[in-house]
Amino acid sequence: MKKILFAASEAVPFIKTGGLADVVGSLSKYFDKNEYDVRVILPKYACMEEKWQKKLKLIATFNVKLGWRQQYVGILKCDYKGIGYYFVDNEYYFAGPNPYGQIHEDVEKFAYFSKAVVEALPKLDFVPDIVHCHDWETGLIPVYMRTLYGDKDFYKDIKTVFSIHNILFQGRWRLSSVQDATGLPEYLFTSEYLEAYGESNYMKGGIVFSDAVTTVSKSYAMEIMTPEGGAGLDGILRKYSYKLFGIQNGLDYDLFHPGKDTYIPYHYDKENVMEQKAKNKGSLQKELKLPKKKNVFMLGMVSRMSDQKGFDLVAYILEEFLSQENVQMVVLGTGEERYENMFRYFADRFPEKLSATIGYSEEMAHKIYASCDAFLMPSLFEPCGLSQLMSLRYGTIPIVRETGGLRDTVMPYNKYLDTGTGFSFANYNAHEMKDAILAAMDLYNHHKANWKSMMVRGMEADFSWKSSYDEYRELYKML
Ligand code: ADP
Ligand code: GLC
Repeated sequence: MKKILFAASEAVPFIKTGGLADVVGSLSKYFDKNEYDVRVILPKYACMEEKWQKKLKLIATFNVKLGWRQQYVGILKCDYKGIGYYFVDNEYYFAGPNPYGQIHEDVEKFAYFSKAVVEALPKLDFVPDIVHCHDWETGLIPVYMRTLYGDKDFYKDIKTVFSIHNILFQGRWRLSSVQDATGLPEYLFTSEYLEAYGESNYMKGGIVFSDAVTTVSKSYAMEIMTPEGGAGLDGILRKYSYKLFGIQNGLDYDLFHPGKDTYIPYHYDKENVMEQKAKNKGSLQKELKLPKKKNVFMLGMVSRMSDQKGFDLVAYILEEFLSQENVQMVVLGTGEERYENMFRYFADRFPEKLSATIGYSEEMAHKIYASCDAFLMPSLFEPCGLSQLMSLRYGTIPIVRETGGLRDTVMPYNKYLDTGTGFSFANYNAHEMKDAILAAMDLYNHHKANWKSMMVRGMEADFSWKSSYDEYRELYKML
């Protein structure tokens, strides 16, 4: 039996702010239980729903030294669908209404978390063969294991994998403050190890000290090794390219299943997708107080409202798009205020055409995937992207920019061969995006049979964990 411990800052169903949680929660479940014992360790945030908090049982307590202070660590545990979940408890660090706060607080919070995880390992009922760390929040785990704790026999045979879900967020902060908080030796705060551009950088630490680095699509693995896509870490990634692997994310096909989804009123499969999706659309129009029209082209967006997701392109064309006949747009998201306000403003001006839900709702997200005709994702960069996979699964045609995982998963429509699963554009340019939307609308309005066959091709495309799972297994085996 191979033992793997995932360490991450979020995982479905316990706590989620984005795709990282989907991936940690679903990949861990997918491993064959006869071959692998996969467990997960997370922070126990005060903002985690009460129903999960109640399930946890305390299994260990100890202190870790952080700077000059001793900090309490509680380790709690529960089982969820056959997976053991551990939680690191500390009411000071994990307080507040959100998992993340200010960056300076977060760097200390996750230095604490990483050290607590490393020190918890000998105290668990489970010694992993591999610790699989996700994103900068866990970047210090391999660093601690190979340096401060490197002379302890216990850690010597445990391998580490570090997965990059988004290179933009690196956990950067003042060298002296991080050195002070982490207690890591001074020689590590140099350009060979943790230092980058005059600051300390947790993600760089994860890259340097782990045995293998992965990222979440093949295209993104190439992009992050270039100056345009590497957010300053391209050089270090080129240096360590021999241990960098791009493995495409999969989707939890049980949770995202148009035939069983408990959030949507009308279930469907590819046989009855046209009729049932139309009923879902009608019911969403009613719920969101949009005019109940059948043949209107309904465009959806569910997203963190950040620059990454291409909202400045949307800003350029929104008025023009909404001025057309026979269109509706349904948006769900939170994030930067200027984008939230943009949607509030246009929803006010075009109440019959735009519904904008500013907030976070799993239920509304599923309803949008199941009801819209097309889904817009014009990202500036996209490590993998799960929303376009959800759209494909629900027969909603994605319109995407050709970057990272979007390029790898959405096959552009070819009108001569009648192939493809969506519409795409290459450059980060509002006119190109508009042309892609217009091409989609043309097919929707004038070539219904082709539109329908594209929906079905998307639903048939397999983005479950099936194929990527083998790549993770190979990697673990190699280690
Ligand atoms: P990222 O992780 O960069 O935000 P992904 O496409 O990988 O992008 O994953 C986003 C996930 O978060 C999807 O599951 C999407 O449905 C969900 N999501 C984003 N914003 C919201 C929201 N406001 N309400 C509900 N779900 C959301
Ligand atoms: C990040 C990326 C997104 C990816 C997700 C899960 O949040 O922005 O593209 O799908 O992680 O790996």
